[in-house]
Amino acid sequence: MKKQLFLLLTACAALFTACNDDKTKDTTNMKPTITEKPFGVLGNEPVTQYTLTNANGMQVSIINYGGTVTSIITPDKDKKMGDVVLGFDSLAGYLQKENPYFGCLVGRYGNRIAKGKFTLDGKTYQLPLNNNGNTLHGGLKGLDKVIWQASKPAGDSSLQLTYTSPDGDQGFPGNLKVEVVYTLTADNALQIAYSATTDKATPINLTNHCYFNLSAGKEGTILNHEVTINAAKYTAVDTLLIPTGLLPDVKNTPMDFTSAKAIGKEIAAVPGGYDHNWVLNKNGTTLEKVATAYDPTSGRLMEVLTTEPGLQFYTGNFLDGTLHGKDNRVYAKHAAFCMETQHFPDGPNQPAFPNTILKPGEKYTSVTQYKFSVK
Ligand code: BGC
Repeated sequence: MKKQLFLLLTACAALFTACNDDKTKDTTNMKPTITEKPFGVLGNEPVTQYTLTNANGMQVSIINYGGTVTSIITPDKDKKMGDVVLGFDSLAGYLQKENPYFGCLVGRYGNRIAKGKFTLDGKTYQLPLNNNGNTLHGGLKGLDKVIWQASKPAGDSSLQLTYTSPDGDQGFPGNLKVEVVYTLTADNALQIAYSATTDKATPINLTNHCYFNLSAGKEGTILNHEVTINAAKYTAVDTLLIPTGLLPDVKNTPMDFTSAKAIGKEIAAVPGGYDHNWVLNKNGTTLEKVATAYDPTSGRLMEVLTTEPGLQFYTGNFLDGTLHGKDNRVYAKHAAFCMETQHFPDGPNQPAFPNTILKPGEKYTSVTQYKFSVK
């Protein structure tokens, strides 16, 4: 009898363990979800915040104003979740003119075009000058300041955003139809897939402007983050950050991130801080790992994969402690860094740089992933 009771108890214990195991498995088999909630109103148009959650519990929130990533919540080495991007709690924060492009999509031409001028097929175009006599990030009202149409393709792990920029918008030629698909993958990557078509030849250079601090608020600056950039050269710039056309070697300079280096190690030797385009060591348009950032405090690692030839590594040099962000946090100089995958700045005026002109009948495509893990 005792033996039978023992066997019964053992069987029950085994069943209990199996059930519990199943529960653990359940989490990993959890379906990705997208939820949405109102995020204010711009004019008459409602702005919505979409939150993508994957099976691991990682979450990315995006608003359809500017296609802006408002939070990326990932675990640290102790499995504690934290938000690794700068931003604001409300739409008003994003609408203020001091918003330094937190988390948004950037276009039609990310980065600078010298004197806001370029010539295409014999015609000279003039764009608004919004940065020391040059055009930055697509002009006064770029793709970061418009409301995108959002839809949810099947699968609940992607958010699709579309926007048509009309012919002449910010001085650019052609009706440009842009589509951006944000996907939160099962392996904790935020993938951004851009595509566009036009009915007149036009420059294009789309990117995303997330400001990362992988410590999720624990460290006031990113100077202790360790970075690698797989690039032997960078595009030299003048004092207004316009390319000179030269591509100096990074070797034996503070621009060398070919092996891991704390951002703060040599930043003092770079006037103003890092705000440059690195010429990535890659050929063609395959999706390749090009950069990493690691925060030793939290153990968070971010890998950047892209199909693009360039990477603007910007260390939040113009943040100055005057912006109050999420949870009323103050964002000091170097509070975050950006890794903007892109074609090179001023491409339309630099014939030796990779082509940035999209023609009718062609399709612009670009894919970037920010992949999170711990070590
Ligand atoms: C530019 C910086 C600029 C910042 C705007 C970066 O992409 O390279 O020079 O200040 O965007 O917030």
